[in-house]
Amino acid sequence: MTTYSYTLKILEGTSEYVLKELLEKYPTIEIVKENKDEILFNSDIEDINSFRNLYSPTHISNLKGNTLNLSKREWRVEFVSAGINPSLAYILCMIANLDKDNILLDPFCGSSVIPITAIKYFDIKRVICTDISGNAIDASKKNFKATNIDESKYKIFRNDILNSKISKRNVDRILSNLPFGIRVGDHESNREIYKSLEQLAKKVLRKKGLIVLLTQEKVLLREVFSKDIWSVKSILQVNEGGLFPEVFLIKKM
Ligand SMILES: C[S@@+](CC[C@H](N)C(=O)[O-])C[C@H]1O[C@@H](n2cnc3c(N)ncnc32)[C@H](O)[C@@H]1O
Repeated sequence: MTTYSYTLKILEGTSEYVLKELLEKYPTIEIVKENKDEILFNSDIEDINSFRNLYSPTHISNLKGNTLNLSKREWRVEFVSAGINPSLAYILCMIANLDKDNILLDPFCGSSVIPITAIKYFDIKRVICTDISGNAIDASKKNFKATNIDESKYKIFRNDILNSKISKRNVDRILSNLPFGIRVGDHESNREIYKSLEQLAKKVLRKKGLIVLLTQEKVLLREVFSKDIWSVKSILQVNEGGLFPEVFLIKKM
């Protein structure tokens, strides 16, 4: 049988998640090599386009010199600054161990890349997307429209976390790419923002709920989600163009 060789480009530190997705979707492939930013594999599939349903790697190439950008999403018609790479959003959803019955909240939704990923590829029940910025809310609405997701599955509204209107304890997952204070915001305002996030989580998260957060403000995050109430685990560190934010998994003790 003829085999074809492929190279996946991955975000540094994410190989465990990319391998999981790859082997779940293509159990018969042969892994040839694994580096911090690449995975090489062989497959009997000739057409590179067959791998378009991989969402955690950023690119795939074959030996004929063809490359597909796997981070590109057809529904991502609007962008905000400091938006998350869609491949990383997919990995955040994997870390969150999403379930079909879950309601997810992203309180810093930007253009809603994380909530749309959760609905579209993990088929969860409902998402709540909020952000202080009117531009982010408009961008989110346009991206949701571009996905054709049923309107009953999402709620989008403006909300300042410092003065939050959300109070119902019906959230199973909080997933978010937080303001880091480098490209968006500053350290002092982050302190108040992170404290308010913790207060909100205490109020709205169901008993067995999980929180998955991407941030560069690692010390502040651990300070705010205190040890006596929360268990805070750093899951991976990403190289985002010279910044090294981490993904944290947080549970109530
Ligand atoms: C790093 S961006 C998130 C981007 C988003 N994950 C995406 O990929 O499009 C942080 C977001 O936090 C929002 N934000 C900043 N301060 C806020 C506040 N006080 N309340 C709610 N949202 C806030 C910003 O408007 C920005 O959209």
